[in-house]
Amino acid sequence: MFDFRPDAALPKAELYHDLCQAADALTAGEPDGVANMANLAALMWQYLPDCNWTGFYRMAEGELVLGPFCGRPACLRIAVGQGVCGAAAASGVSQLVPDVHAFPGHIACDAESRSELVVPVLKEGVVIAVIDCDSPLPARFDAADQAGLEALAQLIAARI
Ligand code: SME
Repeated sequence: MFDFRPDAALPKAELYHDLCQAADALTAGEPDGVANMANLAALMWQYLPDCNWTGFYRMAEGELVLGPFCGRPACLRIAVGQGVCGAAAASGVSQLVPDVHAFPGHIACDAESRSELVVPVLKEGVVIAVIDCDSPLPARFDAADQAGLEALAQLIAARI
């Protein structure tokens, strides 16, 4: 049994530190990337309050393809450069979007989403996937969330 008990009252830096430790423990020694992404999506869902989607899109044959996630069913394929996920994949740079309605080309998988954070996962300088978190709250994510998910992305790059 994996009995992680995230304390959402913790300062974000500590919450993400705990999340990364749990992610490390869960993925260490498991070579199957899909299994690891599935547990990581569940872990983000458990640790990050006020999210309606946490999960992965993977780079496959030049486009982003839906990976393991928690939340409502989502778009299957996203072209690089399209939407928030595609912008992160094209640039290799995290996309912190306080108001999705103000982001040109935002893809509304769930009409309830108001803010979004997408962090690329890079392996040897190449984007292999993106982590996507959505929230029904405006401006749910800030620089601390971005730093936390970027640390997670670095930790898991060799495991997905
Ligand atoms: N909103 C994203 C699409 C993915 S869903 O949010 C799960 C985007 O604009 O790339």
